[in-house]
Amino acid sequence: MSELEFDLDPEDLRRLGRRVADMVADQRASLPDRPVFGKLADRAALLDEPLPQTGLPVDAVLDLVRERILPFAFGNSHPRFFAFINATADPVGTAADTLASAMNSNCWGGDHAAIHVEAVVVRWIASILGLPATAEGLLTSGGSMANFTALATARRAVSPAVREDGFGSTEPFAVYVSDEVHNCVDKAIDLLGIGWKQMRKIPTDDRFRMRMDLLREAIAADRRAGLRPAIVVGNAGTVNTGAIDPLGEIADLCAREGLWFHADGAYGAMARISPRMAPLFDGLERADSVAADPHKWLYVPYEAGAALVSEPGRMADAFRRPAPYLVHDPDSPVAGPVSFNERGPELSRSFKALKVWMGLKRHGRSGYAAAVEHDVAMARFLADEVKARPDFELMAEPVLSIVAFRYRPRNGPADEDGLARLNRRIVNRLVGSGAFFLAPTLLKGRTAMRTAIVNFRTTEDDLRALVDEAARAGQALLA
Ligand SMILES: Cc1ncc(COP(=O)(O)O)c(C=O)c1O
Repeated sequence: MSELEFDLDPEDLRRLGRRVADMVADQRASLPDRPVFGKLADRAALLDEPLPQTGLPVDAVLDLVRERILPFAFGNSHPRFFAFINATADPVGTAADTLASAMNSNCWGGDHAAIHVEAVVVRWIASILGLPATAEGLLTSGGSMANFTALATARRAVSPAVREDGFGSTEPFAVYVSDEVHNCVDKAIDLLGIGWKQMRKIPTDDRFRMRMDLLREAIAADRRAGLRPAIVVGNAGTVNTGAIDPLGEIADLCAREGLWFHADGAYGAMARISPRMAPLFDGLERADSVAADPHKWLYVPYEAGAALVSEPGRMADAFRRPAPYLVHDPDSPVAGPVSFNERGPELSRSFKALKVWMGLKRHGRSGYAAAVEHDVAMARFLADEVKARPDFELMAEPVLSIVAFRYRPRNGPADEDGLARLNRRIVNRLVGSGAFFLAPTLLKGRTAMRTAIVNFRTTEDDLRALVDEAARAGQALLA
């Protein structure tokens, strides 16, 4: 084979594709029989390998993938994976990613199918979120970038001179978030030059929702001190417990006070696709911007987040920067319906929209509503199971599909430190054994085992087994 023989003829490509399809199907089918967390058997074989000087036949490369890489996934398509908020992937999305990669579209703009697909997907997501049909947006790598992009748009809206003058020379302003906000918002506040000293972390109530009385007080105190209140970030499903801030009240307050209302819906907002769940998000439809995450509750494989802004033109106002080497001539045959590079920081962008489009075409609103409701029902089941067992304590009633609980047997430690140690060790034991994957967290200073069920493969048996195993692990550790 010549060194420059990068192309494959169609027959070889077909054969390669069939092998890959077999590997994909085998990987998915075998997942439930494997340890949930596929910890790498031989790290050095991957980590320490020097740069290959010559190539291998593609079949040999695939053999290496099958042996050294494929079995060692993080585990988040396994029915017993509940850690962080990493969803199970819809295989339709896996197929979509292959097709999108075959097209190899660069989605910054232009008049080609991928741009139209992303434009319609953005409109569909706006409709799921209840935003106006004219809302603008784009797909991002995930919720972190969606929050960053939306907050960059907000920053430009509330402080128009910031693009030209830089932050140091403009009037500082305050941003209000709850003490349960995701740390990607902290990062965005830093990266946007707003600064953490201008970020007010408003305490939450006993259900982990932002306290409106304290939010109002903080805004009034800042006004009195001469600092301009500018942005409120409401949680449409917190990462820790799934708590939903009083979005309607935040929307009212922002309208009254002339503040930008941003909602972080990376975890929860897509649940609005279910008519049964939608009322929980009342007020979301009045947000100026929303971060959402199709790679969570639309189950598309990584990556796909979405940043939406209600008022058209705001994103371009924050990101548009014409350049002679790009297309701005409306008479150019290349000019397309949307320049996505003018809605976010990136120019070259992958065709993430295809997997979202294919998922929505395949399952429709009703299919996703059923899947979301399944996850919520599983969380309810787990919470009831925990409550029914005297050795366990439910630490937050599930609102969506996160359940936080801890093991607290009579023969165990009574102090917070001891309970924290015991519960963290239980989690490590369950994850290390390969039986389950969940993660610990802190809730108002108390350690909890946290399960996030964004997993249409999970059954009641899986969850009953989780509580049984946690108790067994706890007793073994106490012994
Ligand atoms: C509420 C919330 N916001 C933001 C994020 C960050 O999203 P991503 O991991 O897609 O960047 C998460 C992730 O779990 C989240 O739950």
